[in-house]
Amino acid sequence: MEDQKEIEKLRSELNEHNYRYYVLAAPIISDAEYDHLLNRLRDLEKKHPELFSPDSPTQRVGAPIQAGFSEVVHLTPMLSLANAFSEEEVRAFDAKVKKLLGHEVGYTIEPKVDGLAVSLRYSHRRFFQGATRGDGERGEDITLNLKSLRDIPWDLPEYAPQEVEVRGEVYLNKADFERLNEERLDKGEAPFANPRNAAAGSLRQLDPRVTAGRPLHFWPYAGSGLRGITTQYQVLTDLEGLGFLRPNGLPDFLQNRLIRNIDDALALFKIFNDRRHEVPFEIDGMVIKVNSLKDQEALGFVGREPRWAIAYKFPAIQKTTILKDIQVQVGRTGSLNPVAILEPVEIGGVVVSRASLHNEDEIERKDIRIGDAVLVQRAGDVIPQIVMPIKERRTGEEKLFQMPERCPVCSSHTVRLPGYAMRYCTGGLSCEAQLIERLKHFAGRRAMDIEHLGSQLAKSLVEKKLVQSIADLYFLNKDSLLTLERFGEKSADNLLESIEKSKERPFSKVLFALGIPEVGEVTAKYLAEHFMSIDLLGRASLEDLEAVPGVGPSISESILQFFGEAHNQNVLERLAQAGLNLQQRAKKQRPLDGLIFVLTGRLERFTRPEAQSRLEALGAVVSSTLTKKANFLVAGAESGSKLEKAQSWGVPVLEEEELLRMLDESTSSEETSPHVTVDLKGRS
Ligand code: IVH
Repeated sequence: MEDQKEIEKLRSELNEHNYRYYVLAAPIISDAEYDHLLNRLRDLEKKHPELFSPDSPTQRVGAPIQAGFSEVVHLTPMLSLANAFSEEEVRAFDAKVKKLLGHEVGYTIEPKVDGLAVSLRYSHRRFFQGATRGDGERGEDITLNLKSLRDIPWDLPEYAPQEVEVRGEVYLNKADFERLNEERLDKGEAPFANPRNAAAGSLRQLDPRVTAGRPLHFWPYAGSGLRGITTQYQVLTDLEGLGFLRPNGLPDFLQNRLIRNIDDALALFKIFNDRRHEVPFEIDGMVIKVNSLKDQEALGFVGREPRWAIAYKFPAIQKTTILKDIQVQVGRTGSLNPVAILEPVEIGGVVVSRASLHNEDEIERKDIRIGDAVLVQRAGDVIPQIVMPIKERRTGEEKLFQMPERCPVCSSHTVRLPGYAMRYCTGGLSCEAQLIERLKHFAGRRAMDIEHLGSQLAKSLVEKKLVQSIADLYFLNKDSLLTLERFGEKSADNLLESIEKSKERPFSKVLFALGIPEVGEVTAKYLAEHFMSIDLLGRASLEDLEAVPGVGPSISESILQFFGEAHNQNVLERLAQAGLNLQQRAKKQRPLDGLIFVLTGRLERFTRPEAQSRLEALGAVVSSTLTKKANFLVAGAESGSKLEKAQSWGVPVLEEEELLRMLDESTSSEETSPHVTVDLKGRS
């Protein structure tokens, strides 16, 4: 049937465009064209209700923001694990297992990933339902959000069974967690306490596009419905075969492991504990599971915990020290950030002497006083945190902390606005601390990436009044730079060169670099994609702004305020004058984009890798196997069976000379072809 073919074609095209739009941020068609395709698909689907598919782009794009999550009843309850904190407890677990079964057992050893459990269901090899654990019996349907995770395949390979359920842990890498928190602090939002909470917060977003902007990962540890499987070890390896891949570059001790007796587990635990800092995400122990599934079944459960597994948890890395003082630092947006100054203490191999206290409410809630003995821990194994004061050790000499009424740097008044967790300095640009932080932010790696502008230099530039607004950076000259202390010719050249290079940064990075309060990296990207230029963004109304994913009233208000200030307009004009990218460029389309080439036989004029890299540079895909989907077979001398196949399937065959001509023509057409332009209307 013709319509069915067209529906399939439209679905696959629209999926590709969604991916380019939301994930790559590089659309290749205008929004009007996109709407046209989507409407055509809607019409056809209306005409053929029998061809309905929950995965159709019409089902997803039409309702990106959900009103709430619906409930999912788990096929089998999602249970928890009993914990062990000592060797004795682990040995007792082993003894009980052997006693109940009446024979020796092998175990698998897996990391206990500290994230949150989810269930993924596949029907006819397609991912159709993803859910949180919830109360174990019922969870929330978060299918759309889980679809944005790269680690979760949408389709299983052909040889997979029809119905499969995979369970595992969704987590965030420690580095990504820190970045996310920096962004939240920039926005005046309370930071997440640990990567686990951050992952949970990211997964339970009603707008799946917010989830898509957070680099969540999936770690599989259980599967059901798999064929011919008798052990947990096979489950783990089978899942990898189905496409649930582990990240590259993990330390070797995280590999799937099968051990013969509990002594091996205890030895491995030592390695896990000593080397846990090598793992890019948080693990809070290791899980020991009876390997044989038959044995597991025989052992069964007590309450909500299986008798066949145990979580051997790491001892917490917490230490007690003295809180000597609380200092206040002024951030880029003027936020006053309280920092704990601690009597230095070693925690898990690192000396800790400072810890963030986040904001005044947190200090009050935890009842932390200057002079207190405090319990300190490294959350995410990285950021030191104060867990609580040890009140029993109080002498009565401890002092309550109060946020200053005046900025510690510029003495302007400080204010705390309703709805904000932070207190702010009102000094604006007259506050040197703010300007220094703004400059550091502007030059940062995720913003303008001005390599030679570090924190010390930012401070000198501001203090020596060479830079009084970020735009001044682009009008610095060598003579004035040489007036800085200990700043020679070479340093000046390097700095000027990296400033020059920053002019190539794309619009979304410039927008982020401007440091508009509440506009983090992800929001900046969405705004850049939506408005395409600083002029259109500057002219947007509150309603226009709120139409952008992830942008609510508060961000919109902040943007309006930013553009309403005359001095900001002045900065923008000077940045434009300096030649920064203040509009979005659509990704350049390459002449051979998406075309599949297969090379066969001996080439005379270049080597195969050369041919391949020239083709790929023009957007082509070079495949080693010939299928009917291939667009061209390049046949060199002595081509064998592939040539015959191509001829019988009607795949066009190119000789080497023809390939060369095609490459040359494509290369020159690419040099002259104009950039693709993209319609400015928002996609909703
Ligand atoms: S197996 C019936 N394996 O720990 C046993 N759980 O405390 C079900 N977890 O809810 C869990 N890594 O969220 C298992 N390798 C692993 C795990 C793991 C982390 C989490 C999971 C579970 C919780 C139980």
